[in-house]
Amino acid sequence: MASSPSFTLLLLFVFATVAIGSSSLEHKEKMTHLHFYFYDYYSGSNATIVTVISPPGNNTFGSIGVGENILRVGRESSSELIRKAQELTVQADNRESGYLSALNFVFTVGKYNGSSFSILGRALLTEPRIERGIVGGTGKFRMARGYTNSRLIRSTGTTQMELVFEYDAY
Ligand SMILES: *[C@@H]1O[C@H](CO)[C@@H](O)[C@H](O)[C@H]1NC(C)=O
Ligand SMILES: *[C@@H]1O[C@H](CO)[C@@H](O)[C@H](O)[C@H]1NC(C)=O
Ligand SMILES: *[C@@H]1O[C@H](CO)[C@@H](O)[C@H](O)[C@H]1NC(C)=O
Repeated sequence: MASSPSFTLLLLFVFATVAIGSSSLEHKEKMTHLHFYFYDYYSGSNATIVTVISPPGNNTFGSIGVGENILRVGRESSSELIRKAQELTVQADNRESGYLSALNFVFTVGKYNGSSFSILGRALLTEPRIERGIVGGTGKFRMARGYTNSRLIRSTGTTQMELVFEYDAY
């Protein structure tokens, strides 16, 4: 089968782009491990997460929450504030407490000030450890890829709850 000139040109362009892309990535890509604590407050004047859609009846399927969570260096609420996380969470599982979650980690201090990275994935609240993919970033984290592991380490209160998660990002 004869290929048309424009198809051949397109192929050449694709190969050239792949070659340039891989050679410049090889030199720049490096591994970073970040460790921090993620604080969620439900209800009360300090709430960091709100439910914006509540489905009718006793169903939680389809509920949507929006959060501006607090990130600190340590497991104590008094430890240093390092960044914020913008969160969108959708209850998208009819049988389990499974959520589709999207988070933006925005750095406000230190050498990553002004940079951010984003994760997207499934959060199954009954799992002791939740793994989600890092799908991109900005600034120092431009073109980021990797994953996060998180686990609940503390849950206090009943109506006004404080949840603390430990995060490792690679
Ligand atoms: C809100 O945060 C402030 C400062 O950390 C604290 O003094 C206050 O008790 C908190 N209020 C609630 C309702 O959690
Ligand atoms: C919700 O659950 C409560 C308690 O289990 C029940 O009494 C009520 O009828 C349920 N409401 C609906 C709309 O299913
Ligand atoms: C972080 O960057 C912003 C914008 O450049 C700047 O205004 C702020 O002072 C920086 N904060 C710290 C703690 O370096």
